[in-house]
Amino acid sequence: MSTVVIIGSQWGDEGKGKIVDIYTGYADEVVRFQGGNNAGHTLVVGEETTVMHIIPSGILHPGKRCFIGNGVVLDPKVFFGEIAALRARGYCQDDRQLVVDPAVSIIMPYHRAIDVAREKRAGSRKIGTTGRGIGPAYEDKVGRRAIRLEDLIYPEVFATKLHEILPEKNFLLEKFLGEAPLDEQEIYDEYTAYGAQLKHYLGNTSILLNESLAAGKRILFEGAQGTLLDIDHGTYPFVTSSSTVAGGACTGSGVGPCAIDAVVGVCKAYVTRVGEGPFPTELHDETGELLRHKGHEYGATTGRPRRTGWLDMVALKKAIQLNGLTGLALTKMDVLNTLQTIRICVAYKLDGRTITDFPSDVRQLTRCIPVWEELPGWNCDISGATAVEQLPAAAQGFIARIEGLSGCPVILISVGPRRDQTIQVQNPFETGKKG
Ligand code: IMP
Repeated sequence: MSTVVIIGSQWGDEGKGKIVDIYTGYADEVVRFQGGNNAGHTLVVGEETTVMHIIPSGILHPGKRCFIGNGVVLDPKVFFGEIAALRARGYCQDDRQLVVDPAVSIIMPYHRAIDVAREKRAGSRKIGTTGRGIGPAYEDKVGRRAIRLEDLIYPEVFATKLHEILPEKNFLLEKFLGEAPLDEQEIYDEYTAYGAQLKHYLGNTSILLNESLAAGKRILFEGAQGTLLDIDHGTYPFVTSSSTVAGGACTGSGVGPCAIDAVVGVCKAYVTRVGEGPFPTELHDETGELLRHKGHEYGATTGRPRRTGWLDMVALKKAIQLNGLTGLALTKMDVLNTLQTIRICVAYKLDGRTITDFPSDVRQLTRCIPVWEELPGWNCDISGATAVEQLPAAAQGFIARIEGLSGCPVILISVGPRRDQTIQVQNPFETGKKG
């Protein structure tokens, strides 16, 4: 098997960074295909913690080529800041390790300004975005107004496009959002400098990845955010602006669907959410606080405390269907170590009816009341376990129940933040497609 897609099966922050880091060990190349620096993938290697926002987590493995595909929105300032920080720590010493597709849309200063100003104006009706300009950048992409990398590297092309676009953005900022307008010359100077530097990383992701596929290389697609934040299938409008589901790996990098061999959904042993929007299994009690505290559930990008709740099988069923998951990577099991009992939501009550399908309308979702199943906790430290058989019976029971309810095998269990605190049941590069 040569290609594996990793996606988040919840609302993001499932611990994808660690899983990508582990699977990169088996891969030759790693690809980001959607989102931007709204992501924050935390990796713990030895005593060192690294948070990646835009550069694929695979960069910590020397010699593995990392791609930023056409589906990504790229903030050059953040990109170069991340490269500098990585270089200072001995990573990313060779520019050829990193390839950026010419069709990526550039996040411009007006995108960030509009994102923040719109949220401020929306008050209590805000989305709770990361304020990184993601939504406005994707709006321009779909509206055919984006400045792509292939524009930015040619100063005359960039100047013409910026001159056309900026008056409309400044009109919006000044006259509607009540913010200061942005200076064209300043943007031009700063961004042409980025364009000149970005040239060194330019490469057609689709062509290069298809060459790699033909050569039998192993490719890992690194999803960001999570299924329930998908622009089409998530809890709209409380979503991000990209296709976070597995299908996005194809459109966002330029490989065909038949090239995908396995799709692994990263699933935390409980659920978290940052920002606004419905969350049926949310906890507002001390158990919720315990999960936040023990799980270090604070945004890797914004530092915001994450909302916490019990595992939701109705939502997970949706993630399995939308992504065609072939396996689950169950993360942060150790966070539940001290609990006497653990709850799993197995259905919802909606207006008196019991349902097991996740409603697409957020108004309905807001009215959903979880139907719980209660399981015994294991009440001991599992962070040293290296095989499923070493886990206490209650922990094995928890995993078996997730498999039973979801119909999807748990192929990896994470029992702590470090690489070595991982139980691998199956390697998706070896087992691949189910059925
Ligand atoms: P945006 O992506 O900044 O536009 O934010 C839209 C929604 O997605 C907000 O609720 C954010 O909190 C959420 N979001 C965006 N990126 C992430 C992420 O990497 N993890 C978790 N939530 C995210």
